[in-house]
Amino acid sequence: MNPAKRRTVIAGNWKMNMTPAEAAALVRETAPLVAGKDNCDIIFCAPYVDIAAAQEAAKGTNIKIGAENVHFAEAGAYTGEISAKMLGACGVDYVIVGHSERRQYFGETDETVNLRTKAAIAAGMTVILCLGEVKEQRLAGITDEVVAMQTKLDLAGISAEELKQVIIAYEPVWAIGTGLTATPEQAEETCAVIRATLAKLYGEEVAETVTIQYGGSMNDKNAAELLAKPNVDGGLIGGASLKAAAFAAIVDAAQ
Ligand code: 13P
Repeated sequence: MNPAKRRTVIAGNWKMNMTPAEAAALVRETAPLVAGKDNCDIIFCAPYVDIAAAQEAAKGTNIKIGAENVHFAEAGAYTGEISAKMLGACGVDYVIVGHSERRQYFGETDETVNLRTKAAIAAGMTVILCLGEVKEQRLAGITDEVVAMQTKLDLAGISAEELKQVIIAYEPVWAIGTGLTATPEQAEETCAVIRATLAKLYGEEVAETVTIQYGGSMNDKNAAELLAKPNVDGGLIGGASLKAAAFAAIVDAAQ
């Protein structure tokens, strides 16, 4: 973290978990544990059907509710999809785009990730843009090239002004849901590569202001040492965000 230069953000990604009632209960349980912990932004990204219940439970707390994806078109024949306008109308300010599970299981590409990112920015939302290498790429020694390429393609055509509405989540795919965490050194090194790529695109000064989270089996045990690294500005947390105490402990580690 480097709070002098950029905001620390701790976000949960609930993925395909939680009914509305369960979502509300988790927000209510978490809220008192994170109250007053204002050195970071605290967000739960929820399945669409849970957003209203989670927002209601989060009223008057420092927890913000986001979505897990957004479509790039304004409206039309896209069965099963949700537009940025719809999310905006529901009071959603944050949305995850480009999660590796979307890329892996639902055919999303850097091109569609870029379009979704642009649509969310245009609707006034802040995007949590996910990228990261798969295991074979890390083993082949091409992690730096992969994340640099994703950063460039996913942000193509996005201005420095618009970049203020982007948080990047570096999520090595091999670390997601596997219990394998990148070492703090690996996380730092790759987040620094992403920041150097941003510096090439937008200049050093702008790059220094961008929040770059780490995601991949981050939990209450390993969060502190990951967040101690200067280029790791927060976390995007899957499994551990489903438990109030574990998530709150990660928020504590960011104070
Ligand atoms: P886990 O924390 O369960 O590994 O998931 C990470 C993730 O994919 C967050 O988006």
